[in-house]
Amino acid sequence: MRQSSLVVVSNRLPVDDSVAPDGACEWRRSPGGLVTALHPLLQHVPATWVGWAGGTGPAPALSDIDGVRMHTVPLSHDDVRNHYEGFANSTLWPLFHDAVEQPVYHRRWWEAYQRVNQRFADAAAQAAEPGATVWIQDYHLQLVPGLLRAQRPDLRIGFFLHVPFPPPELFMQLPRRAELLNGMLGADLVGFQRAQAAHNFAQLAAKVLNLPATDHRIAVQGREVQIGAFPVSIDMTEMEALARRPDVVARARQLRHDLGDPQHVILSVDRMDYTKGIEQRLKAYSELIADGHVKVRDTVMVQVAIPSRERVEQYQVLRDRVEREVGRINGEFGRVGEPAIHYLTQHFDRAELAALYRVADIMAVTPLRDGMNLVAKEYVAARVDDSGILVLSEFAGAAAEFSQAYQVNPHDLDGLKLTLTQALRASPSDSTNRMRGMRAHLRKHDIRAWARAYLTELDETGTLAARLT
Ligand code: G6P
Repeated sequence: MRQSSLVVVSNRLPVDDSVAPDGACEWRRSPGGLVTALHPLLQHVPATWVGWAGGTGPAPALSDIDGVRMHTVPLSHDDVRNHYEGFANSTLWPLFHDAVEQPVYHRRWWEAYQRVNQRFADAAAQAAEPGATVWIQDYHLQLVPGLLRAQRPDLRIGFFLHVPFPPPELFMQLPRRAELLNGMLGADLVGFQRAQAAHNFAQLAAKVLNLPATDHRIAVQGREVQIGAFPVSIDMTEMEALARRPDVVARARQLRHDLGDPQHVILSVDRMDYTKGIEQRLKAYSELIADGHVKVRDTVMVQVAIPSRERVEQYQVLRDRVEREVGRINGEFGRVGEPAIHYLTQHFDRAELAALYRVADIMAVTPLRDGMNLVAKEYVAARVDDSGILVLSEFAGAAAEFSQAYQVNPHDLDGLKLTLTQALRASPSDSTNRMRGMRAHLRKHDIRAWARAYLTELDETGTLAARLT
């Protein structure tokens, strides 16, 4: 009899350690789309979350957080360097994002990836009750489904990839491509953000492993592995409630005042990552100012770049380049007390983000490639008065859902400039119609709908999905 208990396995636990004002160590919710996506759901089912707490010391003993048992997997300095910073974020991350930066291949990173994946599989095997459902997340852990099945064939195993899955001609570069595909095929259900990704995966299973594969199922040694698209979402109700909170409304008013009460505020919120198109966007914006299409006093741009993966060289290089460009633009076009770009490289709490979303007349989300992009969805959720304009890259997963956004190719600087200009000139009635359409879509397709759709497919008894309503 299958248990209606759930084990979630992800590289990061949904917590981070930080130092409280009184100097004590405390755990806070960590950044990133994945944790934002899953956390609200796990309070409704008996759940354990297996993951890394973020440091390299001995694993901290964590108590339950909001009713979810935290099972920590310790990572050493060497694991972090070779698994997290190496294979996960210097090989797979760039490869899966269209190789917008060159993926780096090192054999010692692959060894660390195998070793750490084994450790996560062992921890999941230990945490799971007989017959439990185990849901493994993202590119850091693609071998875990296979490694877990080898020790616990009683489990129902799901895998979900939050990032894009690349076309065969790119994936074929990967030196250990067959092992990686086999690892994922240890799952009963492999989920992707978009149907194109499921198609790429099926093609590769046929080409590399010689398996009979369609875009919906792959036959593996007498088993059927289902594959499909499940676009991830956000907790719309939570973001709307936050955006309506009186202190957030007051903070938004204050922010607008602090920005000099301009006619237009353009906002971007990204992790500091080369996939996010930050440099292209800054360049387009500076050209708009230089061409006279944007007046610094009337229009203000706020760029939030949340620090990320700071020990990885490509991220350090990017940060330097972005900061040089912001400095150049402000030096050239700003005035005393009136910068052209307000640039913030820090972590923000959710209330401050909600206030920023409320202030933003235009939200520019223009990644070069993105699995989904939850910031775009959070902005739409925060626009409780149906105003606001979303400028959205056609290479973000969210573009498949938000046809009403001002969609743009972020590689095309002239196109980006034109779209931003159109957004600045848009009529309020047109923007309201577009925003209403996006909000109606998001209300139907929120985080609960995502988890329900995935778990209905994974857990054939239907008990887990039923508890999510
Ligand atoms: C993306 C990935 C997540 C990851 C997040 C933050 O959204 O899909 O798995 O947690 O980025 O990145 P980090 O390296 O800080 O975990």
